[in-house]
Amino acid sequence: MAQLWGGRFTKETDQQVYDFNASVSFDKRLFDEDIEGSKAHVMMLGKCGIISHDEMESIISGLDGIYADVKEGKLEITSEYEDIHSFVEANLIDRIGDAGKKMHTGRSRNDQVALDMRLYTRKNIEGLKAEVISLLHELLKVIEDNTTTFMPGFTHLQKAQPVTLSHHFAAYFEMFKRDLLRLNDIYERMNYCPLGAGALAGTTYPLDRDFVAKQLGFYGPTANSMDSVSDRDYLIEYLSALSIIMMHLSRFCEEIIIWNSNEYRFVNIDDAFATGSSIMPQKKNPDIAELTRGKCGRVYGSLMSLLTTMKGLPLAYNKDMQEDKEVAFDSMDTAGNCVLLFTKMISTMTFNTETMKESAAKGFTNATDAADYLVSKGVPFRDAHGIIGQIVIYCDTNSKSIEECSLEELRSVSEYFDKDIYDFISLKTCVEKRLTKGGPAPLAMDEYIKESREWISAL
Ligand code: ARG
Repeated sequence: MAQLWGGRFTKETDQQVYDFNASVSFDKRLFDEDIEGSKAHVMMLGKCGIISHDEMESIISGLDGIYADVKEGKLEITSEYEDIHSFVEANLIDRIGDAGKKMHTGRSRNDQVALDMRLYTRKNIEGLKAEVISLLHELLKVIEDNTTTFMPGFTHLQKAQPVTLSHHFAAYFEMFKRDLLRLNDIYERMNYCPLGAGALAGTTYPLDRDFVAKQLGFYGPTANSMDSVSDRDYLIEYLSALSIIMMHLSRFCEEIIIWNSNEYRFVNIDDAFATGSSIMPQKKNPDIAELTRGKCGRVYGSLMSLLTTMKGLPLAYNKDMQEDKEVAFDSMDTAGNCVLLFTKMISTMTFNTETMKESAAKGFTNATDAADYLVSKGVPFRDAHGIIGQIVIYCDTNSKSIEECSLEELRSVSEYFDKDIYDFISLKTCVEKRLTKGGPAPLAMDEYIKESREWISAL
């Protein structure tokens, strides 16, 4: 047991208590950040004359040595240490002696861990942003290539009105675009340095917090020492953002699973992203999409877990907060992986555009347009709705679509029908006329694509 706080104790810690309390098994992930933060802290101690220049140099080279040894596999982070901070400090003292005992001057593990976790999260946000941007690029390719790929649009999972594959994918482009903007917002709010808050009430040493903040690439130091050590809002915000990203992926996966089903056959998932069945030779299952949908629950769980951990905590630091790490790390790994794999799956997936078109042509997706046709001939919309309703019943019983009815058949329901009805309700016309900004018409999509290209190029 390697602990930093043996002084006031007369008894060894019970082994099970030690194990229960220890965090090194998971906070060893913060090794790089712990070294980076400690170096900035020690540089500041040296600059402010709180330790001598020689001591500062000796500590920094000691930290560099530990860093190199761990990376080269010469030094292992083991469960002998309570947490990553103890590991680094104990090894530093072993390595450089008394000067090492001065590293923690003016610092507490409370502000140290708050710093390490912020550094880690900040880096993770940067990485995820890059992944989301790759996904957006992939989506934009499909959007650009499919402005005239007709498919049915659904409400209640019932065919509603025709859209295009381009338009459908653009809906997801918008979701992931908001996700990216959310990540930017979180980054902006969280990028302040908590180091110097001490255990909770700052310190009597003349620390230069601005120097440390600048050194570590933060906008500046945090404003209140008690808040600094007990704030986990940025993690909750990040877990919320990850949950929303997972929710978007999950919805998209659900659609891909439906589109990949034997009944739909809108898409073909690449063999490299599907699996087979051990008993049914014909099976090709969309496991990646299903797993992504499944893992969404796990990320929501992390968010709930941390919200619940924080809800009753009095100021300032409480050990409960150590529980932030496993859930946060797990969600960062999960969401990052899901975005990456989903992007690969999308980029290798192919679309059965003819099947999509046929599906759009069936299921009365032009019924609204047929009603609009009657409106153009002077029939009030409510009456037109009723007339087309009757035609739909007729078509259903006779297994045909509206445009497959002869003019006589249509006229037997309403005399307002003329031969221009066929062009008016063709799939092509139905889509092309939906020119509302944000609508599926190829011309409207061209405009959307231009704006989206500009936006993504400026990132
Ligand atoms: N392992 C701890 C955590 O993750 C580090 C801070 C410990 N501070 C303390 N006062 N026990 O929160």
